[in-house]
Amino acid sequence: MGKDKIAIIGLGYVGLPLARLFATKYSVVGFDINPKRILELISGIDSTLEIDKKTLQSVLVSSSSESNGLFCTNQLDEIKDCNYYIITVPTPVDKNNRPILTPLVKASETVGAVLKKGDIVVYESTVYPGATEEDCVPILEKVSGLKFNKDFYAGYSPERINPGDKEHTVDKILKVTSGSTPQIGEKVNELYKAVITAGTHLAPTIKVAEASKVIENSQRDINIAFVNELAKIFNLLDINTHDVLEAAGTKWNFLPFKPGLVGGHCIGVDPYYLAQKAQEKGYHPEIILAGRRLNDGMGDYIASEIVKCMIKKNIAVNGSKVLILGITFKENCPDVRNTKVVDLVNALKDYGINITIHDPWADEDEVMREYDLKSSKSLPNEKFDTVVLTVSHNEFLELDLNSFKKHVSVIYDVKGVLISKVDGRL
Ligand SMILES: NC(=O)c1ccc[n+]([C@@H]2O[C@H](COP(=O)([O-])OP(=O)(O)OC[C@H]3O[C@@H](n4cnc5c(N)ncnc54)[C@H](O)[C@@H]3O)[C@@H](O)[C@H]2O)c1
Repeated sequence: MGKDKIAIIGLGYVGLPLARLFATKYSVVGFDINPKRILELISGIDSTLEIDKKTLQSVLVSSSSESNGLFCTNQLDEIKDCNYYIITVPTPVDKNNRPILTPLVKASETVGAVLKKGDIVVYESTVYPGATEEDCVPILEKVSGLKFNKDFYAGYSPERINPGDKEHTVDKILKVTSGSTPQIGEKVNELYKAVITAGTHLAPTIKVAEASKVIENSQRDINIAFVNELAKIFNLLDINTHDVLEAAGTKWNFLPFKPGLVGGHCIGVDPYYLAQKAQEKGYHPEIILAGRRLNDGMGDYIASEIVKCMIKKNIAVNGSKVLILGITFKENCPDVRNTKVVDLVNALKDYGINITIHDPWADEDEVMREYDLKSSKSLPNEKFDTVVLTVSHNEFLELDLNSFKKHVSVIYDVKGVLISKVDGRL
């Protein structure tokens, strides 16, 4: 273990916790192209809130030559003597839901520029089966001039962390590993086994490991689409969906999914990666894309349900004031990427509704920059025609929503978590 030196490329929600964990046993260089991110990490601050200051500071070192610890940098020179390169950069989709591999390509070029004989490059970013060997390895070969599986090797180990979840941290989640040859698979597996206390599963090939990750999130997406469809049906039948799910959930093999907005950069994005690869091979996925369509339409659907509740109470919709509680893509997490609350907000705006957004977790500047929406960390000091709970941050569960209501008003619970009487819920 002594001489292994690991570079982690991309220090976001996935890369930083991994770099911190490896740094407890290895010499780790954390590399990110964003100089602002490097500066904050050097000062012990993680704006994603995944790693607290004390934990981060306990591994930070001021030189990349320490025998273990985490050195953060945006300088290519600092990663050139590493022998493991682990790539954890984003894999988003474009506006037509097609995979964007640019960050992976750029990161592969970065690593290719410093690659040496014997090095192993492990990809962690979520991709479609084949991306590592067919899209990334040729870049490594081209930039480095080295030969794959002769001079250097590859691996794939998908990340399973759940941002905001302080219980299932990276070390406590069993990790799938793989390598470009059986021997490299064993090596990659040993590397992760040294820090992942939950253990590892060595998959037979890189493609199997890639496919396993992308189906985990596709499965969740389809299951949520199913309960979203149930919510639409039960609303028409005037049955409380949550009561039905609670009753059905008493059967041992009924899966506990809840209806809702499917945002973020994993569940709502990864199925498109699998769909793209299937389409390239001439197969048009039916269930996967139907699930995507259904889940992507939930913002519009919820908006129409809220408007119906308002009309039933004779509230003039056009020009009314609606308070949105929560803009992040999930609870107790500052991540606003691909949040589907924005779809709901835009659909409500189309009815002429004035929107006020309160979210104690979301960065106000980022919400403005990404969505051109004003969000505030402070509670509003006014009354609204409708209050919508969109994200179940812990703070909201203790709020007295009645204090924001006008005399005649609507409370709509997207998450189905409010105990008090509501006018509508998904
Ligand atoms: N966030 C999650 O919950 C989660 C869970 C499992 C898997 N994943 C997957 O992990 C990957 C990373 O996701 P994330 O949420 O950590 O993304 P992120 O946006 O939080 O972090 C990515 C980091 O990579 C940096 N970066 C981008 N291009 C780079 C380059 N060429 N070289 C160096 N650094 C670069 C960015 O500056 C950023 O700091 C994605 O494929 C994602 O699908 C994410």
